[in-house]
Amino acid sequence: MNKIIFSLILAVTSINVAFAAAGNADAGKTKAAMCAACHGANGIGTNDTYPNLAGQQADYIAKQLKAFKSGTRVDPIMAPMAAGLSEQDMADVAAYFSGLDRSGVTASADGGTTNSGAPAAQAVVAYVADASAGKSLYELGDASRSIGACMGCHGKEGNSNVLIYPNLSKQHAQYIEKQLHAFKDKTRTNFAMNQFASAMTDEDIADMGAYFADTKAVANVKVKRVATAAVITEEAIAGEAKAAVCASCHGVGGNSLVPMYPKLAGQSADYIAKQLREFKAGVRKDPVMAGMSAALSEQDMAELGAYFSSKKPTAGNGSGSALGQKLYFGGDASRGITACIACHGASGKGMAKAGFPAVANQSVEYLTAQLTKFKTGERDNDRNSMMRNIVKRLKKNDIEALTQFMSSMK
Ligand code: HEC
Ligand code: HEC
Ligand code: HEC
Ligand code: HEC
Repeated sequence: MNKIIFSLILAVTSINVAFAAAGNADAGKTKAAMCAACHGANGIGTNDTYPNLAGQQADYIAKQLKAFKSGTRVDPIMAPMAAGLSEQDMADVAAYFSGLDRSGVTASADGGTTNSGAPAAQAVVAYVADASAGKSLYELGDASRSIGACMGCHGKEGNSNVLIYPNLSKQHAQYIEKQLHAFKDKTRTNFAMNQFASAMTDEDIADMGAYFADTKAVANVKVKRVATAAVITEEAIAGEAKAAVCASCHGVGGNSLVPMYPKLAGQSADYIAKQLREFKAGVRKDPVMAGMSAALSEQDMAELGAYFSSKKPTAGNGSGSALGQKLYFGGDASRGITACIACHGASGKGMAKAGFPAVANQSVEYLTAQLTKFKTGERDNDRNSMMRNIVKRLKKNDIEALTQFMSSMK
Protein backbone atom coordinates (compact mmCIF):
# COMPACT_ATOMS: atom_id res chain seq x y z
CA MET A 1 0.00 0.00 0.00
CA ASN A 2 2.71 2.44 0.96
CA LYS A 3 4.47 1.65 -2.26
CA ILE A 4 1.33 2.37 -4.23
CA ILE A 5 0.76 5.70 -2.52
CA PHE A 6 4.37 6.69 -2.88
CA SER A 7 4.49 5.94 -6.57
CA LEU A 8 1.16 7.58 -7.18
CA ILE A 9 2.52 10.68 -5.53
CA LEU A 10 5.64 10.49 -7.64
CA ALA A 11 3.48 10.26 -10.72
CA VAL A 12 1.42 13.21 -9.62
CA THR A 13 4.25 15.41 -8.47
CA SER A 14 6.29 14.82 -11.60
CA ILE A 15 4.26 17.67 -13.09
CA ASN A 16 6.57 20.00 -11.30
CA VAL A 17 9.77 18.72 -12.83
CA ALA A 18 11.40 20.44 -15.73
CA PHE A 19 10.87 20.03 -19.41
CA ALA A 20 12.67 19.52 -22.66
CA ALA A 21 14.68 21.86 -24.83
CA ALA A 22 12.79 24.85 -26.26
CA GLY A 23 11.31 23.90 -29.63
CA ASN A 24 11.15 25.86 -32.86
CA ALA A 25 7.80 25.43 -34.59
CA ASP A 26 9.08 26.45 -38.03
CA ALA A 27 11.90 23.91 -37.94
CA GLY A 28 9.36 21.42 -36.61
CA LYS A 29 7.07 21.89 -39.58
CA THR A 30 9.70 20.58 -41.98
CA LYS A 31 10.61 17.71 -39.71
CA ALA A 32 6.94 16.79 -39.28
CA ALA A 33 6.39 16.15 -42.99
CA MET A 34 6.97 12.42 -42.49
CA CYS A 35 4.39 12.33 -39.72
CA ALA A 36 1.57 13.60 -41.94
CA ALA A 37 0.84 10.23 -43.52
CA CYS A 38 -0.74 9.15 -40.27
CA HIS A 39 -1.19 12.19 -38.06
CA GLY A 40 -2.41 14.41 -40.90
CA ALA A 41 -0.79 17.54 -42.31
CA ASN A 42 -3.03 19.46 -39.93
CA GLY A 43 -2.19 17.25 -36.96
CA ILE A 44 -5.57 15.51 -37.09
CA GLY A 45 -5.12 11.74 -37.38
CA THR A 46 -6.01 10.46 -40.84
CA ASN A 47 -8.01 7.61 -39.34
CA ASP A 48 -9.33 6.66 -35.93
CA THR A 49 -6.30 4.66 -34.88
CA TYR A 50 -3.93 7.61 -35.34
CA PRO A 51 -4.15 10.11 -32.48
CA ASN A 52 -4.67 13.80 -33.09
CA LEU A 53 -1.54 15.79 -32.26
CA ALA A 54 -2.88 19.25 -33.14
CA GLY A 55 -3.17 21.42 -30.03
CA GLN A 56 -1.63 18.75 -27.80
CA GLN A 57 0.70 19.94 -25.02
CA ALA A 58 4.22 20.28 -26.44
CA ASP A 59 5.87 18.85 -23.34
CA TYR A 60 3.59 15.86 -23.49
CA ILE A 61 4.39 15.21 -27.19
CA ALA A 62 8.13 15.43 -26.53
CA LYS A 63 7.82 13.12 -23.52
CA GLN A 64 5.93 10.52 -25.59
CA LEU A 65 8.46 10.64 -28.42
CA LYS A 66 11.24 10.02 -25.90
CA ALA A 67 9.26 7.14 -24.45
CA PHE A 68 8.68 5.57 -27.89
CA LYS A 69 12.40 5.94 -28.66
CA SER A 70 13.58 4.42 -25.38
CA GLY A 71 10.90 1.71 -25.53
CA THR A 72 9.21 2.63 -22.25
CA ARG A 73 6.07 3.21 -24.32
CA VAL A 74 5.80 0.31 -26.70
CA ASP A 75 4.36 0.76 -30.18
CA PRO A 76 5.74 -0.99 -33.26
CA ILE A 77 4.76 1.86 -35.57
CA MET A 78 6.03 4.75 -33.49
CA ALA A 79 9.30 3.14 -32.32
CA PRO A 80 11.03 3.47 -35.71
CA MET A 81 9.50 6.92 -36.23
CA ALA A 82 10.98 8.22 -32.99
CA ALA A 83 14.29 6.36 -33.32
CA GLY A 84 15.72 8.89 -35.74
CA LEU A 85 14.70 12.00 -33.82
CA SER A 86 17.16 13.97 -31.68
CA GLU A 87 16.01 15.81 -28.52
CA GLN A 88 15.97 19.00 -30.57
CA ASP A 89 13.88 17.37 -33.34
CA MET A 90 11.40 16.20 -30.73
CA ALA A 91 11.13 19.67 -29.21
CA ASP A 92 10.68 21.19 -32.68
CA VAL A 93 7.93 18.85 -33.90
CA ALA A 94 6.24 19.16 -30.52
CA ALA A 95 6.24 22.95 -30.81
CA TYR A 96 4.86 22.65 -34.32
CA PHE A 97 1.98 20.28 -33.54
CA SER A 98 1.01 22.02 -30.32
CA GLY A 99 0.53 25.24 -32.25
CA LEU A 100 -2.01 23.72 -34.64
CA ASP A 101 -5.74 24.13 -34.20
CA ARG A 102 -7.43 21.11 -32.63
CA SER A 103 -10.76 21.86 -34.23
CA GLY A 104 -9.45 20.19 -37.40
CA VAL A 105 -9.70 23.10 -39.80
CA THR A 106 -6.30 23.25 -41.44
CA ALA A 107 -4.53 26.57 -41.59
CA SER A 108 -1.69 25.20 -43.67
CA ALA A 109 -1.13 26.56 -47.18
CA ASP A 110 0.14 23.26 -48.48
CA GLY A 111 -3.35 21.88 -48.86
CA GLY A 112 -3.41 19.38 -46.02
CA THR A 113 -6.40 17.17 -45.55
CA THR A 114 -9.29 18.78 -43.79
CA ASN A 115 -11.01 15.89 -42.13
CA SER A 116 -12.96 16.95 -39.08
CA GLY A 117 -11.41 16.49 -35.66
CA ALA A 118 -14.70 15.80 -33.96
CA PRO A 119 -15.81 12.25 -34.74
CA ALA A 120 -19.34 13.22 -33.73
CA ALA A 121 -20.88 11.08 -36.44
CA GLN A 122 -19.72 8.00 -34.55
CA ALA A 123 -21.89 8.77 -31.53
CA VAL A 124 -24.58 6.22 -32.26
CA VAL A 125 -27.90 6.62 -30.51
CA ALA A 126 -27.45 3.52 -28.35
CA TYR A 127 -24.35 5.11 -26.83
CA VAL A 128 -25.96 8.29 -25.50
CA ALA A 129 -26.79 6.86 -22.08
CA ASP A 130 -23.28 5.49 -21.70
CA ALA A 131 -21.79 8.83 -22.64
CA SER A 132 -23.55 10.31 -19.62
CA ALA A 133 -22.06 7.64 -17.38
CA GLY A 134 -18.68 8.36 -18.95
CA LYS A 135 -19.15 12.03 -18.20
CA SER A 136 -19.98 11.33 -14.54
CA LEU A 137 -16.92 9.15 -14.11
CA TYR A 138 -14.79 11.71 -15.94
CA GLU A 139 -15.87 14.64 -13.80
CA LEU A 140 -16.31 12.98 -10.42
CA GLY A 141 -14.16 9.86 -10.44
CA ASP A 142 -15.25 7.07 -8.12
CA ALA A 143 -13.74 7.27 -4.66
CA SER A 144 -15.03 3.84 -3.70
CA ARG A 145 -12.77 2.34 -6.36
CA SER A 146 -9.98 4.92 -5.99
CA ILE A 147 -10.54 6.25 -9.50
CA GLY A 148 -9.41 9.87 -9.52
CA ALA A 149 -11.58 12.53 -11.14
CA CYS A 150 -10.12 12.68 -14.64
CA MET A 151 -11.17 16.32 -14.89
CA GLY A 152 -8.84 17.24 -12.03
CA CYS A 153 -5.85 16.51 -14.27
CA HIS A 154 -7.15 16.50 -17.85
CA GLY A 155 -9.40 19.57 -17.46
CA LYS A 156 -13.02 20.28 -18.33
CA GLU A 157 -14.11 18.24 -21.38
CA GLY A 158 -10.51 17.11 -21.77
CA ASN A 159 -8.97 20.55 -22.23
CA SER A 160 -5.95 20.22 -20.01
CA ASN A 161 -4.07 23.36 -19.12
CA VAL A 162 -1.29 21.61 -17.28
CA LEU A 163 1.77 20.90 -19.41
CA ILE A 164 2.29 17.23 -18.71
CA TYR A 165 -1.37 16.17 -18.71
CA PRO A 166 -2.41 15.40 -22.28
CA ASN A 167 -5.42 17.03 -23.89
CA LEU A 168 -8.14 14.49 -24.47
CA SER A 169 -10.63 16.88 -26.00
CA LYS A 170 -11.48 16.08 -29.63
CA GLN A 171 -9.29 13.00 -29.53
CA HIS A 172 -10.53 9.92 -31.43
CA ALA A 173 -12.77 7.92 -29.10
CA GLN A 174 -11.22 4.64 -30.28
CA TYR A 175 -7.77 5.93 -29.46
CA ILE A 176 -8.83 6.94 -25.94
CA GLU A 177 -10.33 3.51 -25.34
CA LYS A 178 -7.24 1.78 -26.70
CA GLN A 179 -4.99 3.79 -24.35
CA LEU A 180 -7.20 3.09 -21.33
CA HIS A 181 -7.00 -0.64 -22.11
CA ALA A 182 -3.24 -0.30 -22.52
CA PHE A 183 -2.97 1.43 -19.11
CA LYS A 184 -5.30 -1.22 -17.63
CA ASP A 185 -3.23 -4.18 -18.80
CA LYS A 186 -0.05 -2.17 -18.17
CA THR A 187 1.31 -2.47 -21.70
CA ARG A 188 1.53 1.32 -21.38
CA THR A 189 2.93 2.45 -18.07
CA ASN A 190 2.19 5.56 -16.08
CA PHE A 191 1.64 5.01 -12.39
CA ALA A 192 -1.40 7.22 -11.86
CA MET A 193 -3.10 6.09 -15.06
CA ASN A 194 -2.34 2.40 -14.36
CA GLN A 195 -4.10 2.76 -10.97
CA PHE A 196 -7.19 4.43 -12.37
CA ALA A 197 -7.55 2.33 -15.52
CA SER A 198 -7.07 -0.98 -13.71
CA ALA A 199 -10.05 -0.09 -11.52
CA MET A 200 -12.19 0.63 -14.60
CA THR A 201 -14.38 -2.09 -16.12
CA ASP A 202 -14.52 -2.60 -19.88
CA GLU A 203 -17.92 -0.88 -19.76
CA ASP A 204 -16.45 2.15 -17.99
CA ILE A 205 -13.86 2.38 -20.75
CA ALA A 206 -16.52 2.10 -23.44
CA ASP A 207 -18.54 4.80 -21.64
CA MET A 208 -15.49 7.05 -21.55
CA GLY A 209 -14.99 6.57 -25.30
CA ALA A 210 -18.65 7.36 -25.90
CA TYR A 211 -18.27 10.53 -23.86
CA PHE A 212 -15.28 11.70 -25.89
CA ALA A 213 -16.98 10.82 -29.19
CA ASP A 214 -18.92 14.04 -28.60
CA THR A 215 -18.58 15.74 -25.23
CA LYS A 216 -20.97 18.51 -26.32
CA ALA A 217 -23.80 16.03 -26.87
CA VAL A 218 -24.06 15.52 -23.11
CA ALA A 219 -23.08 19.04 -22.10
CA ASN A 220 -26.38 19.48 -20.29
CA VAL A 221 -26.48 16.09 -18.63
CA LYS A 222 -26.17 16.36 -14.85
CA VAL A 223 -23.36 14.24 -13.44
CA LYS A 224 -24.29 11.62 -10.85
CA ARG A 225 -22.27 10.91 -7.71
CA VAL A 226 -21.21 7.42 -6.81
CA ALA A 227 -22.02 6.75 -3.15
CA THR A 228 -19.82 4.66 -0.88
CA ALA A 229 -21.27 2.55 1.90
CA ALA A 230 -19.41 2.18 5.20
CA VAL A 231 -18.50 -1.39 6.08
CA ILE A 232 -18.71 -2.59 9.69
CA THR A 233 -15.88 -5.01 10.35
CA GLU A 234 -14.59 -6.89 13.41
CA GLU A 235 -11.78 -4.37 13.57
CA ALA A 236 -14.30 -1.53 13.82
CA ILE A 237 -16.10 -3.24 16.70
CA ALA A 238 -12.81 -3.75 18.54
CA GLY A 239 -11.93 -0.10 17.93
CA GLU A 240 -15.06 1.19 19.62
CA ALA A 241 -13.87 0.29 23.14
CA LYS A 242 -10.47 1.86 22.52
CA ALA A 243 -12.04 5.07 21.23
CA ALA A 244 -13.69 6.02 24.54
CA VAL A 245 -10.62 8.01 25.61
CA CYS A 246 -10.72 10.05 22.39
CA ALA A 247 -14.28 11.26 22.93
CA SER A 248 -13.41 14.14 25.26
CA CYS A 249 -11.90 16.00 22.30
CA HIS A 250 -13.06 14.25 19.13
CA GLY A 251 -16.64 13.78 20.35
CA VAL A 252 -18.81 10.69 20.65
CA GLY A 253 -18.38 8.56 17.51
CA GLY A 254 -15.74 10.97 16.22
CA ASN A 255 -18.10 13.89 15.74
CA SER A 256 -16.20 16.60 17.56
CA LEU A 257 -18.29 19.51 18.87
CA VAL A 258 -15.29 21.81 19.33
CA PRO A 259 -14.10 23.29 16.01
CA MET A 260 -10.38 23.08 16.80
CA TYR A 261 -10.59 19.29 17.23
CA PRO A 262 -10.94 17.47 13.91
CA LYS A 263 -13.84 15.15 13.19
CA LEU A 264 -12.73 11.57 12.78
CA ALA A 265 -16.17 10.19 11.81
CA GLY A 266 -16.14 9.04 8.18
CA GLN A 267 -12.41 9.73 7.83
CA SER A 268 -10.51 6.98 5.98
CA ALA A 269 -9.13 4.24 8.21
CA ASP A 270 -5.71 4.15 6.54
CA TYR A 271 -5.36 7.90 6.84
CA ILE A 272 -6.25 7.83 10.58
CA ALA A 273 -3.75 5.04 11.22
CA LYS A 274 -1.06 6.94 9.29
CA GLN A 275 -1.65 10.09 11.35
CA LEU A 276 -1.54 8.17 14.64
CA ARG A 277 1.70 6.45 13.62
CA GLU A 278 3.19 9.82 12.70
CA PHE A 279 2.02 11.63 15.85
CA LYS A 280 3.65 8.81 17.82
CA ALA A 281 6.90 9.05 15.87
CA GLY A 282 6.91 12.87 15.97
CA VAL A 283 6.71 13.11 12.16
CA ARG A 284 3.48 15.09 12.57
CA LYS A 285 3.99 17.37 15.52
CA ASP A 286 1.26 17.99 18.08
CA PRO A 287 1.95 17.84 21.82
CA VAL A 288 -1.55 16.59 22.70
CA MET A 289 -1.71 13.88 20.06
CA ALA A 290 1.87 12.80 20.74
CA GLY A 291 0.75 11.88 24.24
CA MET A 292 -2.49 10.25 23.07
CA SER A 293 -0.78 8.03 20.52
CA ALA A 294 2.32 7.09 22.54
CA ALA A 295 0.84 3.91 23.99
CA LEU A 296 -1.03 2.75 20.86
CA SER A 297 0.12 -0.37 18.99
CA GLU A 298 -0.21 -0.82 15.19
CA GLN A 299 -3.23 -3.03 15.86
CA ASP A 300 -4.86 -0.34 18.06
CA MET A 301 -4.33 2.23 15.31
CA ALA A 302 -5.88 -0.02 12.66
CA GLU A 303 -8.89 -0.72 14.90
CA LEU A 304 -9.38 2.94 15.82
CA GLY A 305 -9.19 3.84 12.14
CA ALA A 306 -11.72 1.16 11.20
CA TYR A 307 -14.08 2.28 13.99
CA PHE A 308 -14.07 6.00 13.19
CA SER A 309 -14.27 5.46 9.45
CA SER A 310 -17.48 3.46 9.92
CA LYS A 311 -19.23 6.36 11.69
CA LYS A 312 -21.38 8.89 9.87
CA PRO A 313 -20.05 12.46 10.03
CA THR A 314 -22.29 15.40 10.96
CA ALA A 315 -22.38 18.57 8.83
CA GLY A 316 -19.51 21.07 8.99
CA ASN A 317 -19.86 24.75 9.91
CA GLY A 318 -18.88 26.24 6.52
CA SER A 319 -21.17 28.61 4.69
CA GLY A 320 -20.00 27.78 1.15
CA SER A 321 -18.08 29.96 -1.30
CA ALA A 322 -18.20 30.39 -5.07
CA LEU A 323 -14.45 31.01 -5.30
CA GLY A 324 -13.78 28.04 -3.04
CA GLN A 325 -15.96 25.82 -5.21
CA LYS A 326 -14.21 27.00 -8.37
CA LEU A 327 -10.75 26.30 -6.97
CA TYR A 328 -11.81 22.97 -5.49
CA PHE A 329 -13.25 21.62 -8.74
CA GLY A 330 -11.10 23.41 -11.29
CA GLY A 331 -7.85 24.45 -9.60
CA ASP A 332 -6.09 27.35 -11.27
CA ALA A 333 -3.77 26.32 -14.07
CA SER A 334 -2.32 29.80 -14.45
CA ARG A 335 -1.00 29.57 -10.89
CA GLY A 336 -0.15 25.86 -10.99
CA ILE A 337 -2.85 24.93 -8.47
CA THR A 338 -4.07 21.37 -9.04
CA ALA A 339 -7.80 20.90 -8.52
CA CYS A 340 -8.49 19.48 -5.06
CA ILE A 341 -11.11 17.14 -6.57
CA ALA A 342 -8.33 15.08 -8.18
CA CYS A 343 -7.36 13.73 -4.76
CA HIS A 344 -10.05 14.68 -2.26
CA GLY A 345 -12.93 13.55 -4.48
CA ALA A 346 -16.11 15.09 -5.84
CA SER A 347 -17.94 15.05 -2.53
CA GLY A 348 -14.89 15.75 -0.37
CA LYS A 349 -14.81 12.19 0.96
CA GLY A 350 -11.19 11.67 -0.07
CA MET A 351 -9.86 8.48 -1.60
CA ALA A 352 -9.46 5.88 1.08
CA LYS A 353 -7.23 3.41 -0.72
CA ALA A 354 -4.88 6.10 -1.94
CA GLY A 355 -4.54 7.68 1.53
CA PHE A 356 -6.18 10.97 0.57
CA PRO A 357 -8.22 12.24 3.55
CA ALA A 358 -11.84 13.37 3.61
CA VAL A 359 -12.14 17.16 3.86
CA ALA A 360 -15.96 17.46 3.84
CA ASN A 361 -17.81 17.95 7.15
CA GLN A 362 -14.64 19.19 8.88
CA SER A 363 -14.78 22.56 10.66
CA VAL A 364 -13.58 25.75 8.96
CA GLU A 365 -11.20 26.33 11.89
CA TYR A 366 -9.51 22.96 11.67
CA LEU A 367 -9.19 23.07 7.86
CA THR A 368 -7.71 26.56 8.06
CA ALA A 369 -5.24 25.46 10.72
CA GLN A 370 -4.03 22.54 8.60
CA LEU A 371 -3.68 24.51 5.36
CA THR A 372 -1.77 27.17 7.28
CA LYS A 373 0.50 24.54 8.82
CA PHE A 374 1.21 23.05 5.39
CA LYS A 375 1.96 26.55 4.10
CA THR A 376 4.44 27.39 6.85
CA GLY A 377 5.88 23.87 6.73
CA GLU A 378 4.98 23.24 10.36
CA ARG A 379 3.08 20.22 9.05
CA ASP A 380 5.27 18.29 6.63
CA ASN A 381 4.01 14.72 6.80
CA ASP A 382 2.47 14.88 3.31
CA ARG A 383 4.53 12.56 1.16
CA ASN A 384 6.53 14.23 -1.58
CA SER A 385 5.18 17.60 -0.43
CA MET A 386 1.98 17.01 -2.39
CA MET A 387 -0.04 19.37 -0.18
CA ARG A 388 2.75 21.84 0.53
CA ASN A 389 3.39 22.30 -3.21
CA ILE A 390 -0.22 23.31 -3.73
CA VAL A 391 -0.80 25.34 -0.59
CA LYS A 392 2.27 27.52 -1.12
CA ARG A 393 0.45 28.91 -4.17
CA LEU A 394 -2.72 29.74 -2.26
CA LYS A 395 -3.29 33.28 -1.02
CA LYS A 396 -5.01 34.06 2.26
CA ASN A 397 -8.37 34.71 0.60
CA ASP A 398 -8.09 31.45 -1.40
CA ILE A 399 -7.67 29.57 1.87
CA GLU A 400 -10.64 31.37 3.41
CA ALA A 401 -12.78 30.54 0.38
CA LEU A 402 -11.65 26.90 0.16
CA THR A 403 -12.21 26.15 3.84
CA GLN A 404 -15.70 27.73 3.77
CA PHE A 405 -16.49 25.58 0.73
CA MET A 406 -15.00 22.29 1.95
CA SER A 407 -16.68 22.60 5.31
CA SER A 408 -20.05 23.04 3.58
CA MET A 409 -19.61 19.87 1.47
CA LYS A 410 -21.73 16.87 2.46
C1 HEC B 1 2.67 5.00 -40.02
C2 HEC B 1 1.85 5.85 -39.19
C3 HEC B 1 2.56 6.84 -38.27
C4 HEC B 1 3.53 7.77 -38.60
C5 HEC B 1 4.16 8.03 -39.97
C6 HEC B 1 3.80 8.51 -37.38
N1 HEC B 1 3.02 8.05 -36.36
FE1 HEC B 1 2.93 8.81 -34.46
N2 HEC B 1 1.54 7.39 -33.94
C7 HEC B 1 1.07 6.40 -34.77
C8 HEC B 1 0.20 5.51 -34.00
C9 HEC B 1 -0.53 4.27 -34.52
C10 HEC B 1 0.18 6.02 -32.66
C11 HEC B 1 -0.62 5.45 -31.43
C12 HEC B 1 0.25 4.48 -30.67
C13 HEC B 1 -0.53 3.85 -29.53
O1 HEC B 1 -1.63 3.34 -29.78
O2 HEC B 1 -0.01 3.88 -28.40
C14 HEC B 1 1.03 7.20 -32.66
C15 HEC B 1 1.26 7.99 -31.52
C16 HEC B 1 2.02 9.15 -31.53
C17 HEC B 1 2.18 10.02 -30.39
C18 HEC B 1 1.51 9.87 -29.02
C19 HEC B 1 0.21 10.65 -29.01
C20 HEC B 1 -0.52 10.62 -27.69
O3 HEC B 1 -1.59 11.27 -27.63
O4 HEC B 1 -0.06 9.99 -26.72
C21 HEC B 1 3.01 11.05 -30.79
C22 HEC B 1 3.45 12.22 -29.92
C23 HEC B 1 3.38 10.79 -32.17
N3 HEC B 1 2.76 9.63 -32.59
C24 HEC B 1 4.21 11.61 -32.91
C25 HEC B 1 4.63 11.33 -34.21
C26 HEC B 1 5.61 12.13 -34.92
C27 HEC B 1 6.28 13.39 -34.38
C28 HEC B 1 5.77 11.54 -36.15
C29 HEC B 1 6.71 11.97 -37.25
C30 HEC B 1 8.10 12.09 -36.87
C31 HEC B 1 4.89 10.38 -36.20
N4 HEC B 1 4.23 10.28 -35.00
C32 HEC B 1 4.74 9.55 -37.29
C33 HEC B 1 1.33 6.28 -36.14
C34 HEC B 1 2.26 7.02 -36.85
C1 HEC C 1 -3.44 12.60 -11.27
C2 HEC C 1 -3.62 13.10 -12.62
C3 HEC C 1 -4.47 12.25 -13.60
C4 HEC C 1 -5.78 11.84 -13.42
C5 HEC C 1 -6.69 12.06 -12.20
C6 HEC C 1 -6.13 11.13 -14.65
N1 HEC C 1 -5.08 11.15 -15.53
FE1 HEC C 1 -5.10 10.40 -17.44
N2 HEC C 1 -3.13 10.89 -17.68
C7 HEC C 1 -2.36 11.52 -16.72
C8 HEC C 1 -0.98 11.63 -17.22
C9 HEC C 1 0.21 12.24 -16.48
C10 HEC C 1 -0.98 11.03 -18.53
C11 HEC C 1 0.21 10.90 -19.51
C12 HEC C 1 0.89 9.58 -19.26
C13 HEC C 1 2.17 9.46 -20.06
O1 HEC C 1 3.03 10.36 -19.96
O2 HEC C 1 2.30 8.47 -20.78
C14 HEC C 1 -2.35 10.60 -18.79
C15 HEC C 1 -2.76 9.99 -19.98
C16 HEC C 1 -4.07 9.65 -20.28
C17 HEC C 1 -4.54 9.15 -21.56
C18 HEC C 1 -3.70 8.93 -22.81
C19 HEC C 1 -3.72 10.20 -23.64
C20 HEC C 1 -2.93 10.11 -24.93
O3 HEC C 1 -2.95 11.13 -25.66
O4 HEC C 1 -2.32 9.07 -25.21
C21 HEC C 1 -5.89 8.93 -21.44
C22 HEC C 1 -6.82 8.42 -22.52
C23 HEC C 1 -6.27 9.28 -20.09
N3 HEC C 1 -5.15 9.73 -19.41
C24 HEC C 1 -7.56 9.20 -19.58
C25 HEC C 1 -7.90 9.43 -18.23
C26 HEC C 1 -9.18 9.11 -17.67
C27 HEC C 1 -10.37 8.54 -18.43
C28 HEC C 1 -9.12 9.45 -16.32
C29 HEC C 1 -10.20 9.28 -15.26
C30 HEC C 1 -10.71 7.91 -15.08
C31 HEC C 1 -7.79 10.00 -16.09
N4 HEC C 1 -7.09 9.95 -17.25
C32 HEC C 1 -7.37 10.51 -14.85
C33 HEC C 1 -2.79 12.01 -15.49
C34 HEC C 1 -4.05 11.80 -14.93
C1 HEC D 1 -7.03 16.35 24.64
C2 HEC D 1 -7.65 16.40 23.34
C3 HEC D 1 -7.46 15.18 22.41
C4 HEC D 1 -7.67 13.85 22.70
C5 HEC D 1 -8.13 13.22 24.02
C6 HEC D 1 -7.42 13.13 21.46
N1 HEC D 1 -7.07 14.00 20.47
FE1 HEC D 1 -6.71 13.52 18.53
N2 HEC D 1 -6.36 15.50 18.08
C7 HEC D 1 -6.38 16.52 18.98
C8 HEC D 1 -5.98 17.74 18.33
C9 HEC D 1 -5.85 19.12 18.95
C10 HEC D 1 -5.69 17.41 16.96
C11 HEC D 1 -5.22 18.35 15.83
C12 HEC D 1 -3.71 18.40 15.80
C13 HEC D 1 -3.20 19.37 14.74
O1 HEC D 1 -3.61 20.53 14.74
O2 HEC D 1 -2.40 18.94 13.89
C14 HEC D 1 -5.95 15.99 16.85
C15 HEC D 1 -5.78 15.27 15.67
C16 HEC D 1 -6.04 13.92 15.53
C17 HEC D 1 -5.96 13.19 14.30
C18 HEC D 1 -5.63 13.76 12.92
C19 HEC D 1 -6.94 14.08 12.21
C20 HEC D 1 -6.78 14.61 10.81
O3 HEC D 1 -7.82 14.88 10.20
O4 HEC D 1 -5.65 14.75 10.33
C21 HEC D 1 -6.27 11.88 14.57
C22 HEC D 1 -6.32 10.73 13.58
C23 HEC D 1 -6.55 11.80 15.99
N3 HEC D 1 -6.42 13.04 16.56
C24 HEC D 1 -6.93 10.64 16.64
C25 HEC D 1 -7.15 10.54 18.00
C26 HEC D 1 -7.46 9.30 18.67
C27 HEC D 1 -7.61 7.95 17.98
C28 HEC D 1 -7.60 9.59 20.01
C29 HEC D 1 -7.87 8.62 21.12
C30 HEC D 1 -6.94 7.52 21.24
C31 HEC D 1 -7.40 11.03 20.15
N4 HEC D 1 -7.12 11.56 18.92
C32 HEC D 1 -7.50 11.74 21.35
C33 HEC D 1 -6.79 16.43 20.32
C34 HEC D 1 -7.08 15.26 21.00
C1 HEC E 1 -2.18 15.27 -5.44
C2 HEC E 1 -3.15 14.98 -4.42
C3 HEC E 1 -3.74 16.14 -3.61
C4 HEC E 1 -4.30 17.31 -4.12
C5 HEC E 1 -4.42 17.72 -5.57
C6 HEC E 1 -4.77 18.03 -2.97
N1 HEC E 1 -4.52 17.34 -1.82
FE1 HEC E 1 -5.01 17.91 0.08
N2 HEC E 1 -4.09 16.26 0.85
C7 HEC E 1 -3.47 15.28 0.11
C8 HEC E 1 -2.87 14.31 1.00
C9 HEC E 1 -2.09 13.06 0.57
C10 HEC E 1 -3.14 14.74 2.33
C11 HEC E 1 -2.75 14.05 3.64
C12 HEC E 1 -1.29 14.17 3.97
C13 HEC E 1 -0.94 13.24 5.11
O1 HEC E 1 -0.73 12.06 4.85
O2 HEC E 1 -0.92 13.70 6.24
C14 HEC E 1 -3.92 15.97 2.19
C15 HEC E 1 -4.41 16.71 3.28
C16 HEC E 1 -5.21 17.83 3.17
C17 HEC E 1 -5.81 18.52 4.28
C18 HEC E 1 -5.69 18.15 5.75
C19 HEC E 1 -6.76 17.15 6.12
C20 HEC E 1 -6.75 16.75 7.59
O3 HEC E 1 -7.69 16.04 7.98
O4 HEC E 1 -5.84 17.13 8.32
C21 HEC E 1 -6.54 19.56 3.75
C22 HEC E 1 -7.36 20.56 4.52
C23 HEC E 1 -6.37 19.52 2.31
N3 HEC E 1 -5.57 18.46 1.99
C24 HEC E 1 -6.94 20.42 1.42
C25 HEC E 1 -6.68 20.48 0.04
C26 HEC E 1 -7.10 21.54 -0.83
C27 HEC E 1 -7.90 22.75 -0.41
C28 HEC E 1 -6.66 21.22 -2.10
C29 HEC E 1 -6.80 22.01 -3.40
C30 HEC E 1 -6.40 23.40 -3.37
C31 HEC E 1 -5.96 19.95 -2.00
N4 HEC E 1 -5.98 19.54 -0.69
C32 HEC E 1 -5.39 19.28 -3.07
C33 HEC E 1 -3.43 15.21 -1.28
C34 HEC E 1 -3.87 16.19 -2.16
